[in-house]
Amino acid sequence: MADTNTPAAAAAPAKSPTSPEPAAAVAPGEGSSSQPTAATIPDAGATIRPPAGPTGQTAIEVDDEGSNASVTSDEDDEGYSDSIAGSSATTSLSSSVRDYTFENNRRYHKFHEGKYHFPNDEPEQAREDMRHCMMVHVGGGALHYAPLQNPQKILDVGTGTGIWAIDMGDEYPEAEIVGIDLSPIQPSWVPSNVRFIVDDAEQPWVTPPETYDYIHVRGMASGIKNWVGLIEQSYTALKPGGWLEIQDLNWTYRCDDTSMGPDYAVAQMAKHIGEGLGKFGVKIYSPEDNPARLEAAGFVDIRHSIDKVPVGTWPKDPNMKMIGLYNRSTVYDGLHGITMGPLTRGLKWTPEEVELFLVRVRKDLMNSRIHSYVNMHTLCGQKPL
Ligand SMILES: C[S@@+](CC[C@H](N)C(=O)[O-])C[C@H]1O[C@@H](n2cnc3c(N)ncnc32)[C@H](O)[C@@H]1O
Repeated sequence: MADTNTPAAAAAPAKSPTSPEPAAAVAPGEGSSSQPTAATIPDAGATIRPPAGPTGQTAIEVDDEGSNASVTSDEDDEGYSDSIAGSSATTSLSSSVRDYTFENNRRYHKFHEGKYHFPNDEPEQAREDMRHCMMVHVGGGALHYAPLQNPQKILDVGTGTGIWAIDMGDEYPEAEIVGIDLSPIQPSWVPSNVRFIVDDAEQPWVTPPETYDYIHVRGMASGIKNWVGLIEQSYTALKPGGWLEIQDLNWTYRCDDTSMGPDYAVAQMAKHIGEGLGKFGVKIYSPEDNPARLEAAGFVDIRHSIDKVPVGTWPKDPNMKMIGLYNRSTVYDGLHGITMGPLTRGLKWTPEEVELFLVRVRKDLMNSRIHSYVNMHTLCGQKPL
């Protein structure tokens, strides 16, 4: 890993004046993966999502056969260049920004240590990238739902591996995309209009008001404590007419028939994770509350759509079957990572107790007779012109 970075102060959209370490643009972490290591969903390219349909949902038809969907990989590095963060005009980077901390054989962020309870190591990154493909596919291949018109400045809050920001950089070559995260795990080979900054989005932002055309927040239900604060800071940082978009899977497992009983271990796991994170002030069911928060903050033209995301290959429809396969894989591959922090740190389980519990979760996850699904919430609102 390169141990250099660009000075961040001028460019940082958010900064933590009260924290010991400044926000920092970083060279990427070792072994980061910008593309799904497992596979890329075919046709998950960037297109603008069609207008919201009604949020009323129909049941997913069940497949009796239980066959598997196939996936292919399609990567292309063409047109990528070193990010600003990876250029030679650099200064030394504070070690606590770049360092990691280790616990139960997993690696976690060191900057504002203990804030986010899921790991940032390679297995977790691979899982995040796969989930990106799945979520884009659920949205019909669109990278965003807000009706953007020639956006110039885009902020991705909690960018993770940076995969969405990189795709947006390709989709909007005229725009400048900034991704911020607690972890310096983003790759260095990115489109030249994309850069990454290590920062805590829940600290006061130093971004001048009316900076961004679009702010994107995805997969943050398990990380953000103060949604009202984040939404209000986003409102201030948006230009008039700019859009905030929040996309998340709701962790409540649902079923439209009788196949999912109260002892469904996957749902129990989600409940335990919610309780564990709750000990740290994180309420994972934020997707249900955020529409009202957008309205209270002053956003207009609020659009909220809910898509069903099956767990496993039980749907009859081949597209839903593939989405279910991806969803199940992201959960299955990530079981250790998503449970260990919340259950040991928050609920004080031992690692052995977590492992023992996961045996039952794996069994239920792979059971195609259980027709469970979760909801993906896509929410966006516009700052009035
Ligand atoms: C589930 S991942 C989602 C990554 C990415 N948005 C995506 O959808 O692919 C959540 C990310 O949010 C980051 N995160 C959590 N809390 C944060 C905070 N307060 N400030 C900045 N990043 C944060 C984590 O480090 C992690 O990379």
